[in-house]
Amino acid sequence: MFNLVIFGGPGSGKGTQSEKLIDRYGLTHISTGQVLRDEIKAGTELGKIAATYIDHGQLIPDQLMVRILADEIDRLKGDSAGFIFDGFPRTINQAERLTEMLAERGTKVDAVVGLEVPDEELTARLIERGKVSGRADDNAETIGRRLEVYHDTTSPLRDHYIDKGLYHAIPGLGTIDEIFETIKSEIESCPNPPIPNA
Ligand code: AP5
Ligand code: MG
Repeated sequence: MFNLVIFGGPGSGKGTQSEKLIDRYGLTHISTGQVLRDEIKAGTELGKIAATYIDHGQLIPDQLMVRILADEIDRLKGDSAGFIFDGFPRTINQAERLTEMLAERGTKVDAVVGLEVPDEELTARLIERGKVSGRADDNAETIGRRLEVYHDTTSPLRDHYIDKGLYHAIPGLGTIDEIFETIKSEIESCPNPPIPNA
């Protein structure tokens, strides 16, 4: 298995680049934000709880989020070639729990791809997307809150993964294809890289 964390601020391109990674390597995508939005759409109890946080740009509590992720891993693992974790971890505690969860399942995080994009660009992308996305958190006020949470709580993970020798910094400005080329060369220079589709 090759397990990849795709990391970066709100609007940095995690979802966009995940689609290209799935196409090339056949990895299994888990976007915790999308899992939560699906629960909200389905009107489940979990969805009702999640909406109270997402609508204000706040993080869902770690304990709940870790349980949701473990369920997704077990639901999807089958004979997966590996996972792309998009939007998880977002706290140091989540990162430690992810390491444990994967170790319990005989695997590990192989690489962290960090999309590095300035705040002004993140805001501009999300405001633009907000015109069509229907996402409750794509409005100026909530975007500002998401950025604050990212800088205060999530960005320390960059150093956490640098210390572990797993972090690959990717300049996140440029075309989607240019950025993907950089990601590809970083991933394919890892030990035991995933095998590209023919
Ligand atoms: P989540 O769904 O993870 O949202 P996010 O991190 O805020 O990021 P986005 O999905 O908005 O952006 P993205 O990086 O995927 O960029 P995209 O490719 O879409 O989380 C949402 C919420 O759920 C959180 O705020 C929290 O409440 C909760 N949550 C989720 N996970 C959690 C966790 N682990 N713990 C606790 N709570 C959690 O691109 C953005 C836009 O830019 C698109 O329009 C795209 O077309 C465009 N774009 C992409 N690349 C480029 C480019 N190179 N140039 C120009 N435009 C581009
Ligand atoms: Mg996304």
